Amino acid sequence: MCGIVGYIGPRPMGEILLPGLARLEYRGYDSAGLALHQGDKLTVSKRAGRIADLAEQLADLDTGGHLGIGHTRWATHGAPNGTNAHPHTDCTGDVAAVHNGIIENWAELKRELIGRGHEFTSDTDTEVVGHLIEEMADVPLDEAVRRVMQSAQGALALAVIRRSDPEMIVAARRHSPLVVGRGEGEMFVASDIPAFLEHTRNMIVIDDDRVVAITADGATITNLEGEEIPAVERTIEWDLDAAEKGGYESFMLKEIHEQPQAIADTLRGRIDESGRVRLHELELDDRLLRAIDKVFVIACGTSYHAAMMAKYAIERWTRIPVEIDIASEFRYRDPVVDPRTLVIGISQSGETLDTLAAVRYAAAQGATLLGVTNVVDSALARESDAVLYTRAGPEIGVAATKTFTTQLVAMQLLGLYLAQVRASMDPGAIEYHIRQLNELPVAVSQVVGSSDEIKKMTERWADVRDFFFLGRSGDFPVAMEGALKLKEIAYVRAEGFAAGEMKHGPIALIEDGVVVIGVATDTHVKAKTLSNMAEMAARGGEMVILREEGDDGTDFADHVITLPEGPDLICTVTAVVPLQLLAYHVANAKGLDVDKPRNLAKTVTVE
Ligand code: M6R
Repeated sequence: MCGIVGYIGPRPMGEILLPGLARLEYRGYDSAGLALHQGDKLTVSKRAGRIADLAEQLADLDTGGHLGIGHTRWATHGAPNGTNAHPHTDCTGDVAAVHNGIIENWAELKRELIGRGHEFTSDTDTEVVGHLIEEMADVPLDEAVRRVMQSAQGALALAVIRRSDPEMIVAARRHSPLVVGRGEGEMFVASDIPAFLEHTRNMIVIDDDRVVAITADGATITNLEGEEIPAVERTIEWDLDAAEKGGYESFMLKEIHEQPQAIADTLRGRIDESGRVRLHELELDDRLLRAIDKVFVIACGTSYHAAMMAKYAIERWTRIPVEIDIASEFRYRDPVVDPRTLVIGISQSGETLDTLAAVRYAAAQGATLLGVTNVVDSALARESDAVLYTRAGPEIGVAATKTFTTQLVAMQLLGLYLAQVRASMDPGAIEYHIRQLNELPVAVSQVVGSSDEIKKMTERWADVRDFFFLGRSGDFPVAMEGALKLKEIAYVRAEGFAAGEMKHGPIALIEDGVVVIGVATDTHVKAKTLSNMAEMAARGGEMVILREEGDDGTDFADHVITLPEGPDLICTVTAVVPLQLLAYHVANAKGLDVDKPRNLAKTVTVE
């Protein structure tokens, strides 16, 4: 996720583009840059850091011009430094492009361009855009961008300017958001409305596979064949605060709703046409992956729940023994680690000190280290032998939501990849699971759509003091995560338990007034989970069951949340979403600030 903005009009570019980018920092903030069309040249300024740093760099420079584009980055390819910051240019400096998304076939395009003599200066996927357009110097810019859109695969929101076109910005969209704003004799283009809301409320949403040529007087939209598409203009009713949250009440709710897209981004380019997992980015030798005889997965908090899920997935699909550890405990129990051990550290921030200290300890014992993180070039990424990035984009809410579901997806991809490499699973079964992973964005959006239903269910829960979340097997980490979400944002006592463990003691706590939530999706154990739940129901309390479509045996439940059918483990990605919504609605009913819960920090860099 990155933010792009473009402006064409009479005002000084810097005064429009820099504040516009600052409004988009929620989309990424590791580096930023501008390209301005100034007379007979394009001027590009970019650097690592936030928009304020870029503004400082530009303070004494001329930021006027005919038109300009800007970018705030959340790295997906290439470290977050000044060289990889956008805009990116061609060999001549005549074309500048900013991009939000992932060009899946960039390596192939880059290879071909280098073969034709182009010189690249960055490690990004985006740089291919400028070089491709450089080869079309005689083609109108909008047609050149259409051709780029035809040859590039993946997600692209682009804005491009060219020295020989002083009156036009051309933008395009596929799977990444893009909106155009129309002012009086000035036009804007951006990833999101807040970038231009203080200047105009007239907006055109650009659809997938559309190219829009923008001049100071208007916008012409075409499909990829060049046929004109009528523009539908709307008036924005939101104020700036609502616009920054995409119209949601909080970043957390927005991020819950972003999960289908975040999961699609995490899967993008990692499953090939023949339906196999492709994780070339890992750069771990298949021989090494075949030789591993033990896996440790180490993490904290929500990421630890992803580690729990990883254990089920890797053991079930590859038969490699997996141990999981809370990072702050790992070093102090003298774990047995050797060069045939794969240690996986999971951390959305990649900066959690407990996790870093644990994986450093393992690496010192000779283990191979795989980092799973959402932040490119974070400490975990830098220190690992290999990295698997979740691609959730920045998460502003302190409570992890989209970074968790993308961790689950990343770990399931990894489990299936190991199964492929080690031939530990029937190829047909691998293919089936991969197909189901690909269905997740749709399944998750279906569940996100049940928010009102969940809100209604939680209406009377603002004063409930005790919640229990139960599950077995793959449903157990989901239950643990449901309890953590409720604890951290609604400040209520919520315990996650393996459902079968309740009868060994905690069942003594069940009485009228407690709420018990049971997750029952895992085929091997769901009947047992339901009978454990029936035991609770007999002792009082309000019972909620999460089960798949078509399942029954839940007559004793007070509420049933139905999930789309899916295979074991993969289905749990959908199961966690109602629990995020449940925590959200309880906290909201209590009037709490869900984005900034008390006593918590987004990244914990102390032991
Ligand atoms: O950045 P990390 O994934 O390493 O963070 C780990 C935990 O601090 C984090 O998951 C924490 O539990 C969150 N508050 C969960 O919502």
